[in-house]
Amino acid sequence: MFTRRQMLQGSVSVAALAATAPLSSMLSLAAEGLHRRSIPASGELLPVIGLGTSRTFDVDPRGAAMGDLLEVLRLFMHGGGRLIDTAPSYGNAERVTGELQRRAHAVGKLFLATKVSATGQAAGERQIAASFQALRSKTLDLIQVHNLQDTATQLQVLRTLKDQGRVRYIGITHYLESAHDELLAVLRKEKDLDFVQFNYSVGERNAERRLLPYCADNGIATLINRPFLRGQAFARVRNQPLPEWAAEIDATSWAQLLLKFILAEPAVTAVIPATSTPRYMADNLRAGVGRLPDTQQRERIARAFG
Ligand SMILES: NC(=O)c1ccc[n+]([C@@H]2O[C@H](COP(=O)([O-])OP(=O)(O)OC[C@H]3O[C@@H](n4cnc5c(N)ncnc54)[C@H](OP(=O)(O)O)[C@@H]3O)[C@@H](O)[C@H]2O)c1
Repeated sequence: MFTRRQMLQGSVSVAALAATAPLSSMLSLAAEGLHRRSIPASGELLPVIGLGTSRTFDVDPRGAAMGDLLEVLRLFMHGGGRLIDTAPSYGNAERVTGELQRRAHAVGKLFLATKVSATGQAAGERQIAASFQALRSKTLDLIQVHNLQDTATQLQVLRTLKDQGRVRYIGITHYLESAHDELLAVLRKEKDLDFVQFNYSVGERNAERRLLPYCADNGIATLINRPFLRGQAFARVRNQPLPEWAAEIDATSWAQLLLKFILAEPAVTAVIPATSTPRYMADNLRAGVGRLPDTQQRERIARAFG
């Protein structure tokens, strides 16, 4: 019905495809073209579209909501996604991630990132031990100090785990622009951090000034949270048709424009939008395929959401 070329170039809308083919069959084609970027510390390639779990994965692991989340995970993997970002402070999200991973036969196939948000060495070790259990894994790919809580102590805990081979990468996170300078100060002081996670979007562009350039210059992988401003970004374009120029960068939805705006920054390693809605998952993955905006096109996107 549609040519492979049309699908990869994004000239067919997600809605049109969904009406004619299962989302998963369309995504296996998209997966071939999903952009990947390297983690500077190792050269390992990561798909640019990841999956957040804050609120969306905080459900009863035995409840009905697991059905849609399993579909989200299957689509994510089918479309070439690997990185899932969770945290012990996201209610049931770690446990749900572990359970979905089991149900989707995904053990060993994902890049699992979680966080530590504790004060003191013993509390940090206890919390991390619970994360390993909830995520049903003896090793984790990335553990991040959440919102810079007790950073120096928790980084020591993480370094020990890295030395033991139980965690492959370590990092720090925050979600407020007012904390970007503090993130930068930690990166300058602690030279062995592999990842930093922070907020960046059309509505929150502070990271362009110092944080993203520093990471590019110093070989630190970046994960971008709150790409949709927790979903609020869509309110600004509600009921507006997608502009025709979206096709110039292979975007077929407003969500893809928002994600492509972020991915156009070369210092971004991956973006981690959250969703509990299968068709949104398919939509978001397509942002990692095809052309990205140049400087002028990025400003056009920013103005459309302004
Ligand atoms: N301090 C930290 O370390 C920190 C702080 C904030 C976030 N994070 C991480 O970053 C992740 C992302 O941030 P976030 O969850 O705050 O917000 P977000 O990803 O900016 O927005 C999530 C919201 O967008 C909606 N959405 C997703 N895809 C969509 C699409 N294609 N079309 C329309 N709506 C769509 C979702 O709706 P539905 O739920 O209805 O699908 C959800 O309500 C978090 O989940 C978490 O993993 C970390």
